[in-house]
Amino acid sequence: MNLKEYIKDKREAVDSFFHSYFGKPGKPSVLQEAMLYSLFAGGKRIRPVLALASYEACGGNPADIVPYASTLELIHTYSLIHDDLPSMDNDDLRRGKPTSHKIYGEAIAILAGDALLTEAFRILSDPSLSGRVQEANLLRALREVAVASGLNGMVAGQAQDILSENAEPDHETLEFIHMRKTASLIRASVMMGPILFGSGMDVLDALSEYGRNIGLAFQVVDDILDIEGNTEEIGKPVGSDERANKMTYPSLYGIEKSKQIAKELIAAALSSVSSFSPGADPLREIANYLLSRRS
Ligand code: IPE
Ligand code: IPE
Ligand code: MG
Ligand code: MG
Ligand code: MG
Repeated sequence: MNLKEYIKDKREAVDSFFHSYFGKPGKPSVLQEAMLYSLFAGGKRIRPVLALASYEACGGNPADIVPYASTLELIHTYSLIHDDLPSMDNDDLRRGKPTSHKIYGEAIAILAGDALLTEAFRILSDPSLSGRVQEANLLRALREVAVASGLNGMVAGQAQDILSENAEPDHETLEFIHMRKTASLIRASVMMGPILFGSGMDVLDALSEYGRNIGLAFQVVDDILDIEGNTEEIGKPVGSDERANKMTYPSLYGIEKSKQIAKELIAAALSSVSSFSPGADPLREIANYLLSRRS
């Protein structure tokens, strides 16, 4: 299979859902405009792609769950708008474009994030958006996404990330931050597939392991790209972590050991899906791509 084509195909399905769902002009128009500005700024869409690929690995047709998979991108995009605010990471560039608050001001940027987060749960609570998903499974998926994003998930990681600026790095805190701010939503993205499909415990456990490991690797690689990447490729400022004295894998372990850790996490992820059929090949290829990505 060609991973680039696979991702492009899935990204187009997600984008076309967004166009149809959010296409009508809203009021105030600037709120809708700000929401769509960040949503269509050119993100990789890796979280919805993971949900679609894991649904496929379980034997489902990804086209049946596009609206629900898309909600992961809404929550992710909200988290980025808020992450870039002056009171958080204070970054001016995102996805190769000026950050939301630079264009719309802080108030509208915050509200665009609030709208993205809330709309995600409107979609996840609407069983009429797919004829293929059982309501009980949709409710389970909604809960999984809520737990991963909230007080014990992404928001906790973001809070600890901010509180740990300028602190001496230690493994326990670092793992707490990275597991929650990033791995948690990525793991939930992977879990959406088997949950909506109604898979059994064995499959859920294996994909949970896969999701945790690629999720943590994702943030370790993000930390590395913040040092070794270039702005054109990553679409955001290089050196942002060092400027804010963030607790990162390279700040505790150095670049080489961080690369080694990312490699081991991806190997662990691959081994947890080793017994899956070729239907899981996209998940395998995505895991390898996350290690070599330059953007
Ligand atoms: C960046 O996520 C923020 C992290 C959680 C590391 P992505 O690298 O997925 O960003 P986009 O969506 O492609 O812009
Ligand atoms: C952000 O981590 C994780 C989120 C939940 C948004 P970073 O602060 O490292 O993400 P980037 O590097 O700004 O994309
Ligand atoms: Mg941050
Ligand atoms: Mg940031
Ligand atoms: Mg970063």
